[in-house]
Amino acid sequence: MVKEMANERFDNAKRNKNDEFYTQLVDIEKELKYYKEYFKDKIVFCNCDDPYESNFFKYFAMNFNYLGLKKLICTSFDDSPIAYTHLSLFPEIKEKQFPNNNRKAYKIEINEVDDYNGDGAIDLSDVEYLLKNKNNVLTLLKGNGDFRSNECIELLKQADIIVTNPPFSLFGEYLSQLIEFNKKFIIIGNVNAISYKETFKLIKENKLWIGQSIHSGDREFRVPDYYPLEAAGYRVDDNGVKYIRVKGVRWFTNVDFSERHEDLQLYKMYNADDNPMYCNYDAINVDKTVEIPCNYYGKIGVPITFLDKYNPDQFEIVALGIVGSIDFTSDRRMEILDKFGNPTGKFTINAKGTLYKKYNPSVDKKPPAFKDCETGELYSSIYARIIIRRKQNEN
Ligand SMILES: C[S@@+](CC[C@H](N)C(=O)[O-])C[C@H]1O[C@@H](n2cnc3c(N)ncnc32)[C@H](O)[C@@H]1O
Repeated sequence: MVKEMANERFDNAKRNKNDEFYTQLVDIEKELKYYKEYFKDKIVFCNCDDPYESNFFKYFAMNFNYLGLKKLICTSFDDSPIAYTHLSLFPEIKEKQFPNNNRKAYKIEINEVDDYNGDGAIDLSDVEYLLKNKNNVLTLLKGNGDFRSNECIELLKQADIIVTNPPFSLFGEYLSQLIEFNKKFIIIGNVNAISYKETFKLIKENKLWIGQSIHSGDREFRVPDYYPLEAAGYRVDDNGVKYIRVKGVRWFTNVDFSERHEDLQLYKMYNADDNPMYCNYDAINVDKTVEIPCNYYGKIGVPITFLDKYNPDQFEIVALGIVGSIDFTSDRRMEILDKFGNPTGKFTINAKGTLYKKYNPSVDKKPPAFKDCETGELYSSIYARIIIRRKQNEN
């Protein structure tokens, strides 16, 4: 049964076009510069990465000596739509073993990168060049290169750190596996992953945090040729290669860097009008992270993007303020209002389990979302919040 479910998920993942976003070298460089010291003498594993196509492979191969790596391992995935066909590199394999020109998963292990001779002629990430050194090997995998397969898990066990952009549709499962094997990691994902129960638990326990280089905006990813480009923000370069801009991208890591220990500078004083208490949870509301009051020491509900500025020495994370995650204190029966504030004839107990506060027409830009059936009072619902509390008292 479990196996069936795993296969089903695997099939879905293969069909999910959002799994095929390829990270640009510049974005990898911008993030990894914060962890330079960490990599010395480490075994790096990129387990969703065709060495011929992945910029993670390229980055680590080119910086192998600069970072002082011990070893670099990359594994590709069967039928990766962007993968090049390299059967010529495997003379023992007969083409007929791969009907329809299917691409077979393989792994590369780099143990040594010869020093650049300085004439600019050799690209240090060039696979054929790297393979001239007998300490580096390219081998076919027995299975399909699934990061959950036994042979990939054996490689994972050897590794000190995993660095990649895993398939978006399998992010939760991918992260759980890294935690299960107690691995260090630096991976790319979507900001929405913060509110997955498992991810948030790790963030709360300070076992996972947001990386340093992406805190807003969107990033450009390469996509396969078949990718439908009706979406906004796509580009085709002079070689016909397609790119798409993706919003809400973040790095997720458990490797520390000094910048995350810098205090968020706060200037605003607490004021009950700007920071009303929720009606169903003992915390005040703050709409923008920069507006966290500097003189309030109770619980505070802040937008999820607070995590981009989160210093674990300054604040503790108390809870994720969304349905199912915290115990709400109210059980009012309320009518749900539409986006113009008009009655809908639909009712809810406790605002469907979201945080809510009294509607204040002088400050609230949006119409109220709920009306108390007994008293007629109006309430505003509050989008997903993280509940935080200051760690130290400042005078
Ligand atoms: C988001 S892409 C990123 C590729 C590469 N890491 C990069 O950043 O350029 C995810 C890659 O994982 C591969 N993949 C999908 N499911 C996988 C699985 N179960 N195990 C390993 N790789 C998988 C996809 O084919 C795709 O190449």
